[in-house]
Formats: sequence, C-alpha cells, structure tokens
Amino acid sequence: MGETLHDLMRERFGVAVPGGEGLPAEGALAAIIQRRSMRRYRPDPLPGPLLGALLTAAQSAGSKSDFQAYSIVHVADRAQQQAIGALMPEMPWVATAPVLLVFCPDLSRGRDACARHGLPFAHDTLDGFINTTVDAALALQTCALAAELTGLGSCAISAVRDHAERITELLALPAGVYPLLGLTIGYPEVPWRVSMRLPPNVVVHRDAYDACGEEAAIAAYDRRRQVREPIQRQRAEDRFGHAPTYGWSLHIARQYAIPERADFAAYLRRRGFSLA
Ligand SMILES: Cc1cc2nc3c(=O)[nH]c(=O)nc-3n(C[C@H](O)[C@H](O)[C@H](O)COP(=O)(O)O)c2cc1C
Repeated sequence: MGETLHDLMRERFGVAVPGGEGLPAEGALAAIIQRRSMRRYRPDPLPGPLLGALLTAAQSAGSKSDFQAYSIVHVADRAQQQAIGALMPEMPWVATAPVLLVFCPDLSRGRDACARHGLPFAHDTLDGFINTTVDAALALQTCALAAELTGLGSCAISAVRDHAERITELLALPAGVYPLLGLTIGYPEVPWRVSMRLPPNVVVHRDAYDACGEEAAIAAYDRRRQVREPIQRQRAEDRFGHAPTYGWSLHIARQYAIPERADFAAYLRRRGFSLA
C-alpha cells in the first residue's frame, strides 16, 4: 500500500511514472486509482438507502444535451436475476450478486417526446446511437465508482449483449431500448488487487498523436505484466496454437481476430435503431 498517489500510480502501471509525488494516498483520487473489477461478493444485501444513493450517483453523470437518454433496470427479483445469470454460466456471480443492474441506452423517451409535441424524431442515426450509448456507459461508470468509494465492489457485464434478444424479452424493453451492460455490485469477498495498465506514454499523447516507441513500450508492458499477473490460459489455442511466449498484446490480438456479436447491428435495426 503506497503513501502517496505516486506510489499508487507505480502500482497501477507496474513502473514509476511522473505524477502524484507528495500527494497523500487518500480520498476519492486514491480510491479511483486503485479501482478494479470485483467478481466475488459476500452474500450480504446492500441497505436499500445505499442502493438508492448509488442509483442517484448513476443519474448524476453528465448527459449529452441533457437528453438523459438511458434507462437502468434493477433486477430485484431473484428468479429474474437467475434467469439472466443462467444465460452466462461462465460468470456465476451474475446470478448471485447482491445487486444486478442493466444499463440500457434509450431512445424511446426521446421518440415519445417528439410524438407528444408533434415533432419528427430525427436522431435515429449512428450519431444518435452513440449519444445514447455513451450516456448509458457514463451512468454505469459513475455508479460503479460511487459503489467502490463506499467500499463495495462491482463488475460491468458486456456479456448481456451475447443474449440481447432474450434479455430484451425478460426485461420487457420497448423499441429503441437495448441492454448495453450489466453491473453487478456487492461487498467484496476477496482482497482488492489492481490490474496493470498500459503506460501513460502509450495512451496519453501530448499536442498530437504520436505512436513512436509504442511497439517497444507495449513489448515491455507485456513482459512486466506477465511477471506480476501472468495470463493463465492462452486464448483460442485450438485455433492459434500454443505460443512459446504469451502476453497481453497477443491475448487481445487473438480476441480481436475473432468476430464478436457480428449480428448485433441487425438486432439493433430490429429494435428500431436505423443507425443511418
Ligand atoms: C464495458 C465493460 C464490459 C465488461 N464486461 C465484462 C464481462 O462481460 N465479464 C467480465 O467478467 N468482466 C467484464 N468487464 C471487466 C473487464 O474485464 C475489466 O475491467 C478488465 O479486465 C480490467 O480489469 P479491472 O477492471 O479489474 O481493472 C467489463 C468491463 C467493461 C468496462
């Protein structure tokens, strides 16, 4: 555990980076720098008032043009939660987490507002889709950070999109609404450990994008990360074989090489997003 934010930053990147020197490792910034996904929870329920406050934190996120174009479904019914969890047995905490929320981009309210005021709805575009999706993602992340600041753990679940049709049905989502991400929340059962990030000189550019030195920096990151948090199982070995040296960049490249949810645009169009 570090004493300054600089120490926490070194932990985050696995290497010292400039910044945080002399600033005490406390408060919201320290908690955010140490955040991580939590997939194992104690069974204790969240007090109702705390959940209400977390949902208000979610709704306190900024929103493009104040559209507030998202909805959050709190899956409070255990049978309903188990039905969603059963769709993704590889993530058993989805069925059992003390709280399961589903964050849904939502153009239905905007469309209804236009209809009520006798106006055409002209945001059924790719840009409109991005606006509503970003709104929902920001609300989720604000909720997740608020949860972590109160000592809770959480995990975003994009796997809901692997089962978008079924979840749409289970949650009775109207046209113009789709399940973007789940969020499980609960009291952590296991200790917190941060996962190593790409160094800032790869991700943060000064004045203009500059990829010079990126390959070497990523190779060094691969090596650093394999020492501290080795990847236990190579992805898609049946397809790509066993690599003698393996690291983060090969792991994500193997994932990028295989299409994911290639039929999602068709699902969205059926849901009333033209993406024009
Ligand atoms: C948009 C988004 C979707 C995610 N979906 C899943 C998921 O479906 N299942 C899962 O176990 N983790 C999921 N995660 C958690 C990521 O795997 C995790 O954030 C990443 O490995 C980095 O680890 P950390 O959050 O502990 O720093 C998701 C995270 C984000 C931000």
